[in-house]
Amino acid sequence: MMDHVRLQDAAAGSDEELAIETSLRPRRLDDFVGQDAVREQLAVALDAAKGRGEALDHVLLSGPPGLGKTSLANIVAEELDAPFVLTAGPALERKGDVAALLTALEPGSVFFVDELHRLPRALEEAFYPAMEDFQLPITIGQGPGARVVTIDLPRFTLVGATTRSGLLSTPLRDRFGIQFRLDPYGADELARIVERSASILGVEIAPSGAYAIASRSRGTPRVANRLLKRVRDWVQVRGEGVIDDAAAAKALEHLEIDKEGLDRLDREVLRTICELFAGGPVGLSTLAAAVGEESDTLEDVYEPYLLQRGFLQRTPRGRVATARAFRHLNLATPGGSAELFD
Ligand SMILES: Nc1ncnc2c1ncn2[C@@H]1O[C@H](COP(=O)(O)OP(=O)(O)O)[C@@H](O)[C@H]1O
Ligand SMILES: [Mg+2]
Repeated sequence: MMDHVRLQDAAAGSDEELAIETSLRPRRLDDFVGQDAVREQLAVALDAAKGRGEALDHVLLSGPPGLGKTSLANIVAEELDAPFVLTAGPALERKGDVAALLTALEPGSVFFVDELHRLPRALEEAFYPAMEDFQLPITIGQGPGARVVTIDLPRFTLVGATTRSGLLSTPLRDRFGIQFRLDPYGADELARIVERSASILGVEIAPSGAYAIASRSRGTPRVANRLLKRVRDWVQVRGEGVIDDAAAAKALEHLEIDKEGLDRLDREVLRTICELFAGGPVGLSTLAAAVGEESDTLEDVYEPYLLQRGFLQRTPRGRVATARAFRHLNLATPGGSAELFD
């Protein structure tokens, strides 16, 4: 049975998912829904840079997975009509990796480094002069005969994306002239994203259907698109081919997405704390082992929404399930106080 749909993962999964994600990705700033302040500020910065014929200042994008960081990086390149070069923090291991990429850039390029917080600390230093002066000092040789030569780099715009801006060192963060934090989207914005995606996918959707999907998408466009795709499958096979309110509700129930937008793993996390650890506190790594997930994934991907919705609390001694979590799972609280179940 493959009914269960995983709503979140750190990155997009299969090739098919990736292809769909690419087709749904907004290309221009005008296609990018919501985040009005970010869009407006970016529009001004882009116009100013274009007007002066200069490279755009370096841009740091932070926020949870699936909120549009990679999309915005692509949009910056598209709007500047500039080449887009992409890498990720963990892919850069040696200083030579950075040098090879930077020296090969065409002038004006957008150089996108995803997961910037996973850039090895030792490599950060290589970025400082590159970002500030467009220069790359390279040590040639070893020991007493070693010397440093400085290579001039073309002007480029570094766009960094991170889910954990708190892990970036201050000197690195300070070198980004433009910094945006993306916040979870409201249901209205997500409904607009769902409608846009539905029209790209060629599926008929009623506004009420778009809203039903949006309201269970945890404030996250990637989740909204993923749900839309699965609901589309359901209406094609079990429904009338049109996504309206009722069809969306049935499809989401079939997918085991509950009214709060929690999927099976979310509920398993909560249930584990409630039942196996009597409501907590339980340490993150113990919890991760118990549900068979990576600690990082649990912390970055699952916990934020559970915290935000008040199902979970972080305490110095570990994670604690709230009364609301017990109530949501229809479980008695450890004290067994029945009045909690109003
Ligand atoms: N503001 C937005 N407007 C429309 N679609 C969006 C928006 N933000 C994200 N998306 C959709 O969500 C998907 C995931 O966004 P992405 O940029 O990959 O997120 P991140 O890099 O932050 O994880 C994209 O493929 C795109 O379809
Ligand atoms: Mg991304």
